[in-house]
Amino acid sequence: MTDRPQNKDAANSMWGGRFAAGPDAIMEAINASIGFDRRLYAQDIRGSRAHAAMLAAQGIISDSDAKAIGEGLLTVLSEIEAGDFPFRTALEDIHMNVEARLKEIIGEPAGRLHTGRSRNDQVATDFRLWVRDQCDAAIEGLQALIRAALSQAEAGADWVMPGFTHLQTAQPVTWGHHMMAYVEMFGRDLSRFQDARARMNESPLGAAALAGTGYPIDRDATARALGFDRPMANSLDAVSDRDFALEFLSAASICAVHLSRLAEELVIWSSAQFRFVSMSDKWSTGSSIMPQKRNPDAAELIRAKIGRILGATVALFTVMKGLPLAYSKDMQEDKEQVFDAADNLMLALAAMAGMLSDLTANRDKMEAAASAGFSTATDLADWLVREAGLPFRDAHHVTGSLVALAESKGVDLSDLTLAQMKSVHDAITDDIFGVLGVHNSVASRQSYGGTAPDQVRAQITRWKEKLA
Ligand code: ARG
Repeated sequence: MTDRPQNKDAANSMWGGRFAAGPDAIMEAINASIGFDRRLYAQDIRGSRAHAAMLAAQGIISDSDAKAIGEGLLTVLSEIEAGDFPFRTALEDIHMNVEARLKEIIGEPAGRLHTGRSRNDQVATDFRLWVRDQCDAAIEGLQALIRAALSQAEAGADWVMPGFTHLQTAQPVTWGHHMMAYVEMFGRDLSRFQDARARMNESPLGAAALAGTGYPIDRDATARALGFDRPMANSLDAVSDRDFALEFLSAASICAVHLSRLAEELVIWSSAQFRFVSMSDKWSTGSSIMPQKRNPDAAELIRAKIGRILGATVALFTVMKGLPLAYSKDMQEDKEQVFDAADNLMLALAAMAGMLSDLTANRDKMEAAASAGFSTATDLADWLVREAGLPFRDAHHVTGSLVALAESKGVDLSDLTLAQMKSVHDAITDDIFGVLGVHNSVASRQSYGGTAPDQVRAQITRWKEKLA
């Protein structure tokens, strides 16, 4: 098995003392993470600067070395940002790429940076900082989306549409009420990212390889410098858990489910058979063969994003399951999953916010649909309970007979004559027509959280105050 090409630079410069030969080319390929973990460069440099400053403050390295390291790292940062940093696969990952380049720039002091630290606490720190930023991005994205849904709700707080169960017309609701249902869901998503952020905001830095270090480091100082609330209390835990990433992915998955359901409704509502909404040109595509087509591609893609986001979540759970403490290289497989899930979640949030902002709800279409399908049958039954004193079960039965009668005549409930109604139940009077309109129906549902426009407006006000 020695006939594969080997890396020509004999041993690795970071640990070469013990090795006579470089890695097999395939070993290098499976081992390297620089192809993706270069995304952590800013976090890596920030963490190293905090670490070097702390080492000097503690008298572990000299001030002049710390100064050279701090400045050299800024040079590395600008090289990466300018796109002329020499990323090298042989150097495996972002941590060793940065450190090796630092050595080329500042020489000997670079070798002192890794004192009292390991790549294990380094990567845990970098990745926490990165995921923490993504929580902030998700929170921002959700706020924008909630604002877009709130504007829709406000414009149509009393626009009537059919409410569905089993996708069968059930009872009339308002457009505002339907939009506010999503505001509640996205609001819980937002708080999940806030909770996850608060829990992950502890610093692994200084846990070193796994057991802590004999150097007199100051973990509170580095935690503070990196915006963490405190250092993590157990060094084994600090380097070996990725629950913060799992929490982020879990929150992202739940959020993606909500996005997917709204996307599905937009797909249905924009179809020729529904026409409850019209999507703006900005969020539609045409067909290369059927000139009449207007496809809701963005909504369909948002509907699909849950596939890869949940896939990433399952992948990382599976990687972490059964790993003994502390660090194992398996954990290098955490990053691509989280990167992909985060990128796609942010894109889906932005696309949904944009689509909702530019969406036109077709009030007349929705109202006409709300009146069809005997959607006020429950109101009729409730009238029989309230005004004629029937037990609800009997009222349900009588109403069922009235629906059957209307259906047989091909008319709506409100089109039956009083005489026809009385033929089913004698206690019915003219008053009953007052509850049959869809507007009466929604206005009557004043229970807290119900669809009455007053209730919907109260919720809109509460959310606007909450976001202000
Ligand atoms: N690239 C590695 C990762 O992402 C960094 C940590 C390597 N640690 C080690 N002991 N080999 O997990």
